[in-house]
Amino acid sequence: MAEVAHLDSVAPPRHVAIIMDGNGRWANARGLHRTQGHAAGEPALFDVVHGALDLGIEWLTVYTFSTENWSRDEYEVSFLMDFNVDLLERRRNELDDLGVRVKFMGDLSDERIPPVLLERIADAEELTKDNTRMTMVFAFNYGGRTEIIDAVRAIAEKVAAGAVEPAAIDAHTLAGHLYLPDMPDPDLVIRTSGEQRTSNYLLWEAAYSEYVFTPVLWPDFDRHELARCVQEYQERERRFGGAIDGSLEGGGG
Ligand code: FPP
Repeated sequence: MAEVAHLDSVAPPRHVAIIMDGNGRWANARGLHRTQGHAAGEPALFDVVHGALDLGIEWLTVYTFSTENWSRDEYEVSFLMDFNVDLLERRRNELDDLGVRVKFMGDLSDERIPPVLLERIADAEELTKDNTRMTMVFAFNYGGRTEIIDAVRAIAEKVAAGAVEPAAIDAHTLAGHLYLPDMPDPDLVIRTSGEQRTSNYLLWEAAYSEYVFTPVLWPDFDRHELARCVQEYQERERRFGGAIDGSLEGGGG
């Protein structure tokens, strides 16, 4: 009985981060253009938002555009920019009504980002800033290495100005200079489409995350698949949680 009580007590992950991969393959398999795969990814994403709310997940981070995605053909890049504008216009009220706070994380100083998108991002963040049910982070023009480089540069400037002692720099210092210093580290990172790489996603933040890889292509992903991934995470936690907690307390991790 004691063991059952322990099984029941495995909490849902507080922060789930997703690499929404496979839109292009989903479209190709249907004789469609890759961009139609991205469009088909939108209902999947919003079903997942509902599923995350039902599961009590507090932070949901999704990779919507990486720093590497600029190398895609001009039509696809331009589609993705316009699509983000449309999506924010069409969905911001729905997210607000659901109690979701919207945040963007990435290099928004990049001059290739259309000004209208920057305006929509600011609008959505402002509209939803007081919501507390869940924070949805759009990793946009995001790259983990760039994020760490930007943090190092900001710290170096403080060192040069005499405001920070080099010997005092530790993991907390670096974490405090990332794009969203208040974001908890992800407990679970999900990548769809069968690819098993981190692809520069949350390099610092995911140092201790569990990874779940699913063969499902992103447009076919939904709240049920999310629940299955969360269950896999919880099963790992319930088998290994005690040992992992113990080693972290010991300072090893
Ligand atoms: C990866 O699939 C997906 C992207 C680069 C874009 C993600 C965009 C969406 C899921 C659309 C909905 C959401 C927003 C916020 C715009 P891929 O193109 O790399 O697929 P492939 O590996 O099969 O080619």
